[in-house]
Amino acid sequence: MSVKIGNIDLGPFPLLLAPMEDVSDPPFRFVCKQNGADLMYTEFISSEGLIRDAAKSKQKLDVFEYERPVGIQIFGGDIDHMREATEIAAQAGPDLIDINYGCPVKAVVCKGAGSSLLQDIPKMVKMTAEVVKATSLPVTVKTRLGWDDTTKNVYEVAERLQDVGIQALSIHGRTRAQLYKGQADWSLIREVKRNPRIRIPIFGNGDVDSPEKAAAWRMEYEIDGIMIGRAAIGYPWIFREVKHFFATGERLAGPTLQERIEACRTHLDKSIQWKGERTGILEMRRHYANYFKGLPDFKPYRMKLVSELNLATIYQLLDDISGSYANNCTLLQPV
Ligand SMILES: Cc1cc2nc3c(=O)[nH]c(=O)nc-3n(C[C@H](O)[C@H](O)[C@H](O)COP(=O)(O)O)c2cc1C
Repeated sequence: MSVKIGNIDLGPFPLLLAPMEDVSDPPFRFVCKQNGADLMYTEFISSEGLIRDAAKSKQKLDVFEYERPVGIQIFGGDIDHMREATEIAAQAGPDLIDINYGCPVKAVVCKGAGSSLLQDIPKMVKMTAEVVKATSLPVTVKTRLGWDDTTKNVYEVAERLQDVGIQALSIHGRTRAQLYKGQADWSLIREVKRNPRIRIPIFGNGDVDSPEKAAAWRMEYEIDGIMIGRAAIGYPWIFREVKHFFATGERLAGPTLQERIEACRTHLDKSIQWKGERTGILEMRRHYANYFKGLPDFKPYRMKLVSELNLATIYQLLDDISGSYANNCTLLQPV
C-alpha cells in the first residue's frame, strides 16, 4: 500500500533522503533522486535568517521540479518567527514543510530551537500548531527519541503533534544527549508506530547503511519508510541498492568506477548550474573524497581536484582517474 503525506503519494515503503546541512543541497539531491530517493529535504534553514532575508538562508530555499516531492526544513525558537518563516518557505514552492526538532548542536539548542523543544513539549505543540495554521502545505516533523535517557518522550510527542495536524513524523533513534554517538535504538520508534492512536506515517532514521540492515529493520520495527543520511554521502546508490534488495532479496553490485565518475560529474555540473562556475567548483570540493572512497593512492588526485579552479582541467582529471583506475576492483562499498 502506498504511503501518503497529504496528497503526496510516496509509493509503498518510501526511502527518504535525510536533511543534512552542507550536504543535501539541490546538486546532491539530484544524484540521490536519480538513484531512487522517494522524498528529500533541504538542509535545515534558520527561521531567523529567512526573516532577516539573509542570502545564505534564502538560497537554501531553492527547490527544482526534478526533485519533487521535496520538503523545506525550518528551525527556530520563536513561535511568531517560525510562523513567518513558514509563509516565506511555502512561497518557494516545496511540496511540504518540515520542522526540525532534532538538531543537537549547541548553537541551535541555546536559542531554544531544534532538539531543545523536546524539553518544552507545550511550546513545541504550540509552535507546530502555528506552523500548520500558517500554510496549506502538509507539515512534517523530524525529531529524536527525547532529550536524554531519562526523558525519552517521543511517544507523547508523536500523539500531541499529530493532534495539532502534522502529517508524518521522522524519528532519529537517538536522544539529544547522545548526539551521534553510540547506536541508534529503534525500539521506541516501533512503539510509536504501534500506538493505535497514531495514523500518520512514521519513518525510522539512524544508522541504516546497507540494504541488509534496511530490510531487517523494516521487518523488525514496522515503520512506514526509512530515512537515510550519512550512508548516502558520496554513495547515492544506497537508495537503488536498498530497493533492489527489497524486491529481490539480493545485493545489487556496487557502482562501477565509471558510474562514480559520472555521478561526480553530474553533481559538479548541477553545482555550477545552481551557483555559477566559481562557487559551484568550490562547493564541490568537499565531495570528491566521498565519491572515490576506497581508491588506493587517490590522494594526489584529490589534492588536485580540491585546488583546481579551471573546469576543463577538472573534467580532464576525472577522465584521468577513469583511465588510471579502470582495472581496479577494490572500490569500497558501505558495509
Ligand atoms: C552532516 C550532517 C548534517 C545534518 N544536518 C541536519 C539538518 O540540517 N537537519 C536535520 O534534521 N538533521 C540533520 N542531520 C541529521 C540527519 O538528518 C540524520 O538524522 C542523522 O544523520 C542520522 O541518520 P543516518 O544515520 O542515516 O545518518 C545532519 C547529519 C549530518 C551527518
